Amino acid sequence: MADGQKKGLEGVVIADTRLSRVQGDIGKLTYCGYDINDLAENASFEEVVYLLWHIRLPTKAELDEFHNALNAEMTLPDAVLDAMRAFPKGAHPMGVLRTAVSLLGLHDPEAEDNSPEANLRKATKLTAKLPTITAAWARLRKGKEPVAPRSDLGLAANFVYMLNDREPKQVEVDAINVYLVLLADHGVNASTFTSRVVTSTDSDMYSAVTAAIGSLKGPKHGGANEKAMRMFQEVAQAESVEKWFKDEVKGKGRRIMGIGHRVYKAPDPRAKILKKHAHELCKLNNNCGLLEVADKLAELAANDPYFIERKLFPNVDYYSAIVLDAAGIETDMMTPLFAMSRIAGWSAHIIEQWADNRLIRPRARYVGPENMEWVPLEKRG
Ligand SMILES: CC(C)(COP(=O)(O)OP(=O)(O)OC[C@H]1O[C@@H](n2cnc3c(N)ncnc32)[C@H](O)[C@@H]1OP(=O)(O)O)[C@@H](O)C(=O)NCCC(=O)NCCS
Repeated sequence: MADGQKKGLEGVVIADTRLSRVQGDIGKLTYCGYDINDLAENASFEEVVYLLWHIRLPTKAELDEFHNALNAEMTLPDAVLDAMRAFPKGAHPMGVLRTAVSLLGLHDPEAEDNSPEANLRKATKLTAKLPTITAAWARLRKGKEPVAPRSDLGLAANFVYMLNDREPKQVEVDAINVYLVLLADHGVNASTFTSRVVTSTDSDMYSAVTAAIGSLKGPKHGGANEKAMRMFQEVAQAESVEKWFKDEVKGKGRRIMGIGHRVYKAPDPRAKILKKHAHELCKLNNNCGLLEVADKLAELAANDPYFIERKLFPNVDYYSAIVLDAAGIETDMMTPLFAMSRIAGWSAHIIEQWADNRLIRPRARYVGPENMEWVPLEKRG
């Protein structure tokens, strides 16, 4: 690496933001000045979305109006649903979400209008429609008909209803709501950075969100919740958690999915909150097998010098996998739920980027061959 070059842009500040503050050294996260612990305890996802878009909490009347605006936008255009019916049933739900969001852009007459008012309307449409797409795909791929959203339910409850075609249980709604609150924004993570880079070219919100979904899909980012869940399932089949840790992590150098973070060098505050919810839910469901595996694995890592030296702690995806599983979310549907939450942050960052935009265009140091002589095709051996 050249002097001053930061591999993976580690520590590089690319923007001023008023949205979220991640203090990795002390394990603290705030949205517009509000501590994540207070928000997780008290806020609905809709209040958090409003907070991120307006940098203040809504009044009761504003929140009611926002609920109505979201509910009015939850239904998908027929053309998008019809296209989804033709998608391969085995397609990954994140691929489906990415494609469906891109399609939504084709069907929105405001897609190319980048004014602040149109961007806020598009942010509302996307926040409202991501749960509908996710729930519809969970059903369509099993040959079931999608369920239309209800106008009397909040976003988390509507999602649970559309997924299962039954009255949502409060415990499921609370679990999904707290998950959505905790994941709504997190500084300039990879997908948020992606959305800002796309926006910086003066491109539209659908393009930026489509790209962000592609970025979130990777297991080093949002895809980690699915991978963590699959890993817990694998460890549960092993002779013991200790043996799996010794063979796979210490022996083969496998990474524990859901552990480690680019910014947090202290415990991730979201993981602590989700761990508490995971314990409550497993007792309620009388099903604590995978949570015991997760706790044991985290304990082994917490006492291992390799993890201690590198300050590697469970991140948000570790216990969120257990919480989402307990709320009845299929493993490969977990990352779309991350997107259902992070759309709040992506859209807020896109709006913030538009307010003070300059093309994001870094450089690379060239290290390839120099002064090569052209060889005609017939003379190349
Ligand atoms: C999140 C993550 C990508 C951060 O990556 P990063 O800041 O680029 O850190 P690096 O990949 O350079 O890792 C730093 C060191 O910790 C180790 N490490 C990082 N995460 C690890 C994990 N989950 N298990 C084991 N070792 C890990 C690396 O091997 C590396 O060791 P080294 O110094 O001997 O080379 C990384 O911790 C990871 O892959 N975690 C698992 C996936 C995950 O949970 N992603 C969701 C993040 S919210």
